[in-house]
Amino acid sequence: MTKPILQVRGLSRSFPIGGGRDVQAVQDLNFEVPAGQTLALVGESGCGKTTTTKMILRLDSPTHGQVLVDGQDVHGLRGSGLRDYRAKVQAVFQDPFASLSPRMRVRDIVAEPLEVQGHHSRKEIDRRVHEVLDAVGLRHDQARNYPHEFSGGQRQRIAIASALVSRPELIVLDEPVSALDVSIRSQIMNLFKDLQEEFGVSYLLVAHDLATTRYLADQVAVMYLGRIVEYGPSEQVFNDPQHPYTKALFSAALPSHPSEPDTEIMLEGEIPSPLAPPSGCAFHPRCQLRLGEVCARDRPRPEWSDTGVMLACHRGFG
Ligand SMILES: Nc1ncnc2c1ncn2[C@@H]1O[C@H](COP(=O)(O)OP(=O)(O)O)[C@@H](O)[C@H]1O
Ligand SMILES: [Mg+2]
Repeated sequence: MTKPILQVRGLSRSFPIGGGRDVQAVQDLNFEVPAGQTLALVGESGCGKTTTTKMILRLDSPTHGQVLVDGQDVHGLRGSGLRDYRAKVQAVFQDPFASLSPRMRVRDIVAEPLEVQGHHSRKEIDRRVHEVLDAVGLRHDQARNYPHEFSGGQRQRIAIASALVSRPELIVLDEPVSALDVSIRSQIMNLFKDLQEEFGVSYLLVAHDLATTRYLADQVAVMYLGRIVEYGPSEQVFNDPQHPYTKALFSAALPSHPSEPDTEIMLEGEIPSPLAPPSGCAFHPRCQLRLGEVCARDRPRPEWSDTGVMLACHRGFG
């Protein structure tokens, strides 16, 4: 495997919620994104995906554990290390309407990450802005326009151009197509693929629709109530899911193509409150395949298959 651009080690985040109580948003996450590849985090709403991406983006700090980018702990960075990190790691969020400043021209929005670096000439910045506008399929003359003059899909292209301009190694994509018209989702997803090929950038993708995930991801980490329950090569996890949660999740919502309507994943039974997580395996109250006592009593330890799949389930590999 190629060298990881991102390594997440024992990452946990709890939030104090008053009365001396804490909610465990994510616990002991371990995963890696190899250079030039895509890892997807999937799971129902509330399982901790956004909390995880926030810690990777330094918008929040871990309670325990580390986030390493190019081998450096991002939460210990200062000075030039921090500037390098800011150039290396970028993000594209769900809502291109909320994420672009309405008063800035496209040129200035796209140029911002370079302006912040402070050491590029105006000529160099214009050259790089044109280069990324080409890459995302926008015309140079559109750089003079304001965000409101564009459609949702074009705005997302502007956000992508801005994420690309600093030549990042990792882009965090948090639900990057969910807010877009179904008809243009495939275009944007193809664009992500093409850009990865062209620039060798890695993606950490959060997507609640599995079609997007299946299309883009090399690896998938399935999360349930703040923990990873299954993790491995996307082909294997999609074709032969091992964890009962993964199986239920995939059978509950599997549009076969990104242009099909978006189905938010829905399973039988309520998601337990993270304030009072079930004992043993957190999935056991909803699990159709549970074994009995052991599942309610002991938390399953992660096991690895010889094909590189991690599974945390008392049933083991089937
Ligand atoms: N700032 C916060 N304060 C308290 N609880 C939080 C906070 N942020 C997230 N949580 C809780 O952490 C859990 C995971 O949330 P989140 O990461 O947003 O999940 P996802 O993005 O997968 O929907 C949820 O139970 C959520 O309520
Ligand atoms: Mg979220």
